[in-house]
Order: sequence, then C-alpha cells, then structure tokens
Amino acid sequence: MPNPNLIHIPKATRYQNAALNYYLELTGSPYLHYGYWEPLPDSSTELTLVQLRTAQEAYIAKLLTFIPVGTNTVLDVGCGTGGNATYLLDRGFTVEGLAPDPFQQEKFVSQTNGQAPFHLTKFEDFKRTHSYDLILFSESSQYIAALDLAQGAARLLNGGGYLLLADMLRVDAKYHEGIFSNCHVSNVLHAALVQAGFNLVKSEDISTQVAPTIDLCINNFRTFGLSTIKYIAALVAIAVPPLHALLRWIFNRWIQKLIVEGLEARTIFDRHLCYEIQLWQLSEKDE
Ligand SMILES: C[S@@+](CC[C@H](N)C(=O)[O-])C[C@H]1O[C@@H](n2cnc3c(N)ncnc32)[C@H](O)[C@@H]1O
Repeated sequence: MPNPNLIHIPKATRYQNAALNYYLELTGSPYLHYGYWEPLPDSSTELTLVQLRTAQEAYIAKLLTFIPVGTNTVLDVGCGTGGNATYLLDRGFTVEGLAPDPFQQEKFVSQTNGQAPFHLTKFEDFKRTHSYDLILFSESSQYIAALDLAQGAARLLNGGGYLLLADMLRVDAKYHEGIFSNCHVSNVLHAALVQAGFNLVKSEDISTQVAPTIDLCINNFRTFGLSTIKYIAALVAIAVPPLHALLRWIFNRWIQKLIVEGLEARTIFDRHLCYEIQLWQLSEKDE
C-alpha cells in the first residue's frame, strides 16, 4: 500500500477532504452522498439525521437498479468511506475503491473488512493494471474535469463496459460562481462522454428526492451552526476583546457572504442545478 506521506494531495483536495471529514464526524454515516428521499417527507415534518441515513440506504439501492445484469467488477471512484462499496460487496460484486484521502482509506478498509482493495490516488493519476465492467462515480464526478473523467473511464473499462454517474449537474451554464459551481455543466459533460465513445443508456432526474437533504443541512446549520458561532463570539468578546475585534473583521470580510449563500442553497439548487443518475455504455473496442 502506498505511503500517504509520499502522495501529493493538492490544497483544493485537502480543503474538500477537511469538509467531508467534518461531515463524517457530525453524522457517523458510512455514506457521503445526499441520499434518496422516497417517499418524500411532508413539509410539516422535521427532517432528522436518522431519516437521512434511511435516504442514504435508499440511494445506493436505487443506484443498484441501474447496474446492468452481468456486471461483476466495479471501480468505485471517489469511494468515500466505503458505504456504497460494502453494499455492492454484500451483493456479490467485486469492488475496488479509489480516493485521494488517507483518512477515507482507513475508514474504507475497516468498513469493507479489507474485502476491497483501495487506491490512494486522484482518478486523474490512477495507473491501470486491469480493466473493469463498471466504473461508479457516486457524487465524485464534480471533482474531476469532464475530459479527464470521460477519457479516463474509457481507458479503464472493458469494451462495452459501463459508467454509472450520480451527481448534481448545472443546467444553467451561466451559474459559475458559488457553492455548487464545481458541478459539471450538464451538456459539457455529455459532450465529453460522447466524444470518448460512450452512449447514454438510461438517465433519471432525482432532484426532488435529493433536495430534502439540502433543507436538512440548512435547518441544522441555522439551529446549531449559527448559535455555536454566536456563543463562541460571545466568549471571545469577554475573554480576549482585541481578538474578538479581529475575528469580527474577518467574519464581515469573508465568512458572512458564505453563510448567507449557504442559507440560500436550496433556492440556488432549484434555480440552476439538477441531480441525475446516468448510465453510459462504452462502445466495443476494436481489437
Ligand atoms: C461527496 S464524496 C462521495 C463519496 C461516495 N462516493 C459516496 O457516494 O458516498 C466525494 C468523493 O470524491 C473523492 N474525490 C475528490 N476528488 C477526487 C479525484 N480527483 N479523484 C478521485 N476521487 C476524488 C473524495 O475524496 C470523496 O471520496
């Protein structure tokens, strides 16, 4: 297994890892995705983390319905801490995980009981030793440039193999700054996959079934996040007034804007994005 200290992980990826790890500490979930809320919660019910876990189980069950019969080997790109991989292992698939984060590696190996090899690398840098029947991008496509994703997957798949992608996509290309702006522009990703030799077999828009998780995050942030920030600020104001003045300046300069945007995440999602599951098949390769 590669030594994590020898692997170069770019700063942007380290920021993402820090956020993902924070989420893991909060939820204790083996999944890092939004989940699939079916049936939809009714608007008067309070959303809970327990319901999120149920939605996350339903999401991987939903993805399973997209996996074609006859699929055996799966490369789970951006595998997180192994929730999806464990689900697939339990159903008889041969799975390998890949992510550029030593913390996720540790969790993945323990979650999968060492049943699935883990590759500590970015997808873009992954060196192929064999090919796969299916490559899964469950909420990891947004971290990989469209051409790298399409060409990399084509290189790693058997001829006629499948790419299963589930993620937020931008339907509005003019939305290019802010909380969800790293998501692919839907038609740009589509064009890259077609150019690399893929055909779209099946797709489903599950935006409605994903959106309650955004509402849950906003509610929790409003209740616990903001009150915690205010409490810490009050303590600092009493204990170290000059530090409070400095933090207040930093808050007004950088953080306030992020908070306002975070609280508007549902509106931004509804206006500019969708969430799709897409199954693509690679053309047969010429021998
Ligand atoms: C939102 S999490 C999704 C985790 C998991 N697939 C799931 O559905 O629970 C995004 C994942 O993509 C990984 N990731 C980020 N950049 C990547 C890259 N360049 N190559 C491969 N994985 C990457 C993260 O480390 C993380 O595991």
